[in-house]
Amino acid sequence: MTLAALNSPVDLNEPQLSIIGQQRLDGELHVNGAKNSALVLMAASVLSRGSIRIQNMPDLTDIGTMAKILISLGVGFRLGGSSAVLTGNGLTRHDPSYDLTRKLRASFFLIGPLLARHGVAKVPLPGGCRIGSRPVREHNKGLQAMGARISIEGGMVSAEVVGNHGRLQGCSIHLDCPSVGATETLMMAATLAEGETVLHNVAQEPEVVDLAGLLKAMGARIHGAGSSTISISGVKELHGADYAVIPDRIEAGTFLIAAAATRSQLHVTPVVPDHLGAVLAKLEELGCGISPQGQGLTITPGQLRGCELRTQPFPGFPTDLQAPFMALLTTVQGDSFITETIFENRLQHVAELQRMGAQIRTRGNVAILEGVPMLSGAPVAGTDLRATAAMVVAGLAADGVTHVAGLKHLDRGYTRLEERLQAVGARISRIGATQSALLAA
Ligand code: UD1
Repeated sequence: MTLAALNSPVDLNEPQLSIIGQQRLDGELHVNGAKNSALVLMAASVLSRGSIRIQNMPDLTDIGTMAKILISLGVGFRLGGSSAVLTGNGLTRHDPSYDLTRKLRASFFLIGPLLARHGVAKVPLPGGCRIGSRPVREHNKGLQAMGARISIEGGMVSAEVVGNHGRLQGCSIHLDCPSVGATETLMMAATLAEGETVLHNVAQEPEVVDLAGLLKAMGARIHGAGSSTISISGVKELHGADYAVIPDRIEAGTFLIAAAATRSQLHVTPVVPDHLGAVLAKLEELGCGISPQGQGLTITPGQLRGCELRTQPFPGFPTDLQAPFMALLTTVQGDSFITETIFENRLQHVAELQRMGAQIRTRGNVAILEGVPMLSGAPVAGTDLRATAAMVVAGLAADGVTHVAGLKHLDRGYTRLEERLQAVGARISRIGATQSALLAA
């Protein structure tokens, strides 16, 4: 055992990725369906008695957890390749268990469709997490405005529609901040409400537009998704539908960033360029060439120089790519400045990057980087999903061997990442257990 390993934050019995860095990547990386879209599309299945076929599902532990939660409520779930069929006909319960929901914060947005379908829902309050406090005040406030009585007791949010035969009532709602989860929760709730709901100051993320796409395919009447105001005219019932999840913009962004960090030309496909506008602009500002080719993008890094970036709600720079982008900026010539404005505790990867030789100082929510010629491999641990992806990017770029722990986070958002990176020339392998498959999650 080396001295570095003795000082390591990594439990050597835990599964890890072992990366021999400084290898040029070459070829094409395929982007899977978007995790954050797929999760909310699955929740939307609760709104209908019909069968919802969702294609392009990513094979991830979070998706497996959501499937288990839905099955526990009585929703039928069948998987065939990358398609899933969810049937809400047998939905009998409105109270997902704490044991399942605690594994998946996003499951809280089930409160909207459950309330719309049953007039009652009891969902565990998602606590804070490593990246921040993750409140759900906007979700609850909106549901209350639509006629739900909400009480919070013993960590459970109980919601019930009083009067109006258990049906939510459309109304005008102004969100204090454009929360993605609140927008999705309220959109789903409003599809079956009586009358019109107008949601102001909503999230404009592509996943919100994707949800509107599925809901419309199910017969919902929705206008304005992708803008700051969405209006929904409630209908009595939604029917089955067939729908495909959009490509994962965060996965695509991670691959483009990995290419830039290893100074490699790589083709990443499929990508919807509009979903990644702020990220592509930043990569170009840094000195990367980006050209559309077929359904994807080819990135060609040139002489890179430091930049300034600030995370913002869409169409701004996504907070979910802040950590991987920081890993890239550590070896870019000159100074860079990163301001994290969305989550209050999302700079924990700084300490791990410093272990690899990165020159980074933090002042509150700002990280100031002084580019170094090269990182050096070290044992590191990812503290959340995207921070772990950042460690992989850093390991690919670093000189020597990097061991990355925290794979339970990574596997929530990236399917068999090491196999896909190996195929484009990375020297990366998993030590310990292999990634669990969808329904074994
Ligand atoms: C979603 C994404 C997550 C991404 C985040 C921001 C899913 C499953 N997850 O999370 O990957 O990082 O959007 O793009 O889609 N806020 C409040 N009050 C509320 C709700 C939110 O102040 O009631 C604040 C949060 O503290 C945070 C900001 O709004 O500062 C964004 O949170 P939100 O958009 O709700 O994130 P999620 O939907 O949880």
